[in-house]
Amino acid sequence: MTKHSLLSLLMLCFATAGCNQKSPSAVPDNSQVSEGLAAVSPVTVGVAVGIGRFESQASLRYSPEAKALQQTVAREFNQVVAENVMKPQYIHPSENSYFWDDADYLVDFAKQHDMAVHGHTLVWHQALPDWMNTYSGNWDDMLKEHITTIVSHYAADIDSWDVVNEAFLDDGSPRQSIWQTNLPDYIAKAFNYANQADPDAELYYNDYNIAGMSKKLDAVLAMAKSLRQRNIEITGIGFQMHIDRYWPSLDNIREAFQKTVAAGLKVRISELDIRMNVNGTETELSPELAHLQQQRYQDIILLYLNTVPEEYRGGITFWGVSDKNSWVNYYYQHADWPLLFDDKLQRKAAWQGVFNAFTSH
Ligand code: GLA
Repeated sequence: MTKHSLLSLLMLCFATAGCNQKSPSAVPDNSQVSEGLAAVSPVTVGVAVGIGRFESQASLRYSPEAKALQQTVAREFNQVVAENVMKPQYIHPSENSYFWDDADYLVDFAKQHDMAVHGHTLVWHQALPDWMNTYSGNWDDMLKEHITTIVSHYAADIDSWDVVNEAFLDDGSPRQSIWQTNLPDYIAKAFNYANQADPDAELYYNDYNIAGMSKKLDAVLAMAKSLRQRNIEITGIGFQMHIDRYWPSLDNIREAFQKTVAAGLKVRISELDIRMNVNGTETELSPELAHLQQQRYQDIILLYLNTVPEEYRGGITFWGVSDKNSWVNYYYQHADWPLLFDDKLQRKAAWQGVFNAFTSH
């Protein structure tokens, strides 16, 4: 343990009124810990943020709580990811025009606060502009222009990209999408074009469920291997990790990370959140659930740090700041509390789990 982390641990014990606190239901008071996660994290620690007007309450730029949100993000993290405004639908709304304004705002915010920016996402089957859905021209030229324009625009400011998002189904078969239909070799082409536009950028393939479904991960790793055999640059794999309190098991996650490292690919936890109300039967985040979530976050971060060697760590990004604006609540249509900050942007026990993992590693 470094001197720095020992100090943090001592502060932590002080802040939580003693390390001997036994009750499993006690929620630690972490409001007094002065350091943010970025100050103690051994890896890049990022967060997805809304920026656009349409993101209403969650917007770093337009929400009534934008100032408080900005302060929290700048204090706790050292990387930002646009939750939506770099997706094709927003950034490339018509064939011959790009909308940079909101994405540029994020890049400027990151510069002001000495944070990195991870680009998300160049190619996906969702969040497509209408014109792309109905495109009837040359798909290869269109893909090249789309990727080259966006990656070049941000070449000086964005160090890493999700090049392709969610190209496989859970059984490992290729997802049928406009890309698959119109340009079957689109994954290789996309990586190639991104690499040509910014040879220094780290390039990731990003997907969900791959920490728990080995067939799907195997298909992803086989794809990465075939890219490398063709001398096409791919840095690593983004494990979205929209997971829950039970699934996947730590053993499954460890095995998935190990396989990826063994394939010579970096591991990035790209969209972490942990659902606690899986069946929708909970009405609140009780102290017991908060404690379970703290442990689950701590276990997963420690597992990442212990399993993935330093040179293979692409960092950890949380998919949102506060529970209030998490996509989980909208998607599953019932209350949940998947993130590190509560509705009032106060640190939760989950935050403490991440802090403990970072400072005890
Ligand atoms: C996927 C995408 C993200 C986001 C989440 C949930 O994981 O990669 O951009 O849309 O779904 O909203």
